[in-house]
This record gives sequence, C-alpha cells and structure tokens, in this order.
Amino acid sequence: MYAQMIKTDSDHMKGAAEMSAQERAFQERIDRGEKIEPKEWMPEAYRNTLIRQIGQHAHSEIVGQLPEGNWITRAPTLERKAILLAKVQDEAGHGLYLYCAAETLGVSRDELLERLHSGKMKYSSIFNYPTLNWADIGAIGWLVDGAAIMNQVPLQRTSYGPYSRAMIRICKEESFHQRQGYDIMTKMAQGTPAQKAMAQDALNRFWYPSLMMFGPSDKDSVHSAQSMAWKIKINTNDELRQKFVDQTVPQAKYLGLTIPDDKLSWNEAKGGHDFSEPDWAEFFEVLAGNGPCNKERLGARVKAWDDGAWFRDGLTAHAQKKQARKAVA
Ligand code: 3HC
Repeated sequence: MYAQMIKTDSDHMKGAAEMSAQERAFQERIDRGEKIEPKEWMPEAYRNTLIRQIGQHAHSEIVGQLPEGNWITRAPTLERKAILLAKVQDEAGHGLYLYCAAETLGVSRDELLERLHSGKMKYSSIFNYPTLNWADIGAIGWLVDGAAIMNQVPLQRTSYGPYSRAMIRICKEESFHQRQGYDIMTKMAQGTPAQKAMAQDALNRFWYPSLMMFGPSDKDSVHSAQSMAWKIKINTNDELRQKFVDQTVPQAKYLGLTIPDDKLSWNEAKGGHDFSEPDWAEFFEVLAGNGPCNKERLGARVKAWDDGAWFRDGLTAHAQKKQARKAVA
C-alpha cells in the first residue's frame, strides 16, 4: 500500500548494461569502497537520495530535542538536569553536522526546513510519541538512542564523504546518550516498586515505536535496494532491527523488566530472537502525520522558525550592509 504511494527507487535501479560509462565508473568507485566528495561527479539520483536521507536525519535530531527538552526543567536532581541538558545540546550539534553535510549537495538549510515545515520531508516517527514521565527519558536514552546507535554505526562507512565524517563524530556522543538512559532505567528498576512500575510502563510504551525507527519491513522498503547498491545504506531495515532486539533483550533481563512481546523467544537455528513485528498500520499512520504528537512537534518547529525570523533578517541586513560597503571601497 504505502510502497505504491511513494516513488520506488528500486524500480528504477539500472543494471550495468543500462548504465552510461560515467555511471558505471561511478558504481565501480562505490564498489571499491571509495568515498564520494562534494565536487566529484555523481548521478542526480544519488545526490537526491542523499539529500532526502541526510536531510531527514538532521530533522530527526532537531525534532528529537523536543520530547526530552520537555523534561529538563522537571529533572529529579541537579545532576540529572545537567546530564539531560548536555544530551539535548548534543542533539542540536548532530543536527548542525548533518545540515552542513546536506548543504554540500547543493541544497540550502532554508529549503530543507521549508520541506520539513510543509510536511514534504520527514523526521523519525519515534518523536511523535509523548514523554509522560521521567522514566520515559530513561527509555528514550536506552531504546531510542540505542536504536539510533544501531542504525548510525554502519553509516560511518557510507559512501558519501561528508555524511560518513558527520556520522563518525555523532557516534562518539551517542554511547553517552544511551548509557545515561540505561542508568536512569537501572536506578528506577532497582528503586521502589512504584519506580519499577514506571520503568516497565515506559518500556511497554516505547518498545514497538523503537522497532519502527529502523523503517518498514524489507519487503516494504522502497529505497533499500538502491541505497545499498550506492552504500548510502549499509544494512537492511530488518537486519538492524534484529540486531537491536538481540542486543536489548539481555539488557531488559538485567533490569528485571519484561519486553511486551509474548512471542519473544530465542531461535537457536537463526541465532537470534523471534519477535512480534510492530503494528505497521500504526507506523504508516504516524508517517502520514496522524501520530499522538505530530501536530505538536511540527507546530513547535514552525513556531521556532517564525519566532526566529527577526534574527535571520538582522543577520541578512548586516551581511548586505557589509557587502555594500565592500563594493564601494
Ligand atoms: N520515521 C519516519 N520515516 C521513516 C521511518 C521512520 N522511522 N522509517 C522509514 N521512513 C520513511 C522513509 O524516509 C521513506 O520515506 P521517504 O521516501 O518519504 O523518505 C519510507 O519511509 C520508506 O522507507 P525506506 O526503508 O524505503 O527508506 P530508507 O531506505 O530511507 O530507510 C531509514 C529509512 C532506515 C530511517 C534510513 O533513512 C536511515 O537510515 N536514515 C539515517 C538515520 C536516521 O535518519 N535515523 C533516524 C533517527 S536519528 C535519531 O534518532 C537521533 C538520535 O540522536 C536520537
């Protein structure tokens, strides 16, 4: 259903025989593991896929600050407040690295933000779920940043130079994000029965939305085949989801918490866990803008853009005045 709704890259994938000599030479560079740099020739479709993926990745970092930012003033201790403040600031920096990487492809930040605000570009579905209490901040660090690490570590080897270098810098900070979340969950799981119940409730609410972060199942992924041929994507959605589940199950066990999936079991033959898929109808509803917090999140971003207009106009006026002075000097 959804796959028919959007352009399917994989349908337009060219075999070697259909490629021009330039496209074949480009693909051979990718196959040799070479990095593609901004000023080098690249197929327009490669450029556009990168703008789409890097732009949406950057939007995810910026929008992702909202659910956690909500709890900075409500953190239970000064130490937790300082940690969360540092994490949320890191996410802003990740967004900046990624917007800068996207700009090397010839798209402006204003254009990317206009596409976000108008709904033409996405951000990660996970950020359309509410953070109801402090345990949710622990679950976000543990599960959401844990899933982000699973998805971002392979992207350090992506074929586009600026994206790969941005990922290397970002991944250095992500492990702190996950550790601080897991530390919150540990304190609560080992705390009072009420605190442990809050931690279990947060796990129940964030488990399936975290699995959705890896994208639709491979059969519904419209970009994977082409993105993997270009090493824009290194693993399939299902591969990374499986790795995330296998890594997270023992962590939940250590906490004494139960993953909300009665189908979850170790499958010796496959060397991994069998688990229930997320509700894909819910996933596509959230992507269509009908999640619990879509309107609030996008509204907050559009308001921030509007409220910052005076500052952007001031900078532009100053730059134009400087330019005019230079021209007459
Ligand atoms: N949320 C929103 N949209 C999603 C999605 C999700 N969880 N998963 C897939 N989609 C969208 C895709 O963008 C695509 O729509 P589009 O054509 O309009 O862009 C459509 O669903 C089909 O999905 P595909 O699997 O075909 O798309 P991709 O090949 O792009 O795979 C992806 C999706 C795995 C998210 C890939 O784009 C990717 O790896 N992106 C880079 C990493 C990233 O963006 N991570 C998001 C989280 S960042 C984060 O969590 C910040 C951390 O600090 C907390």
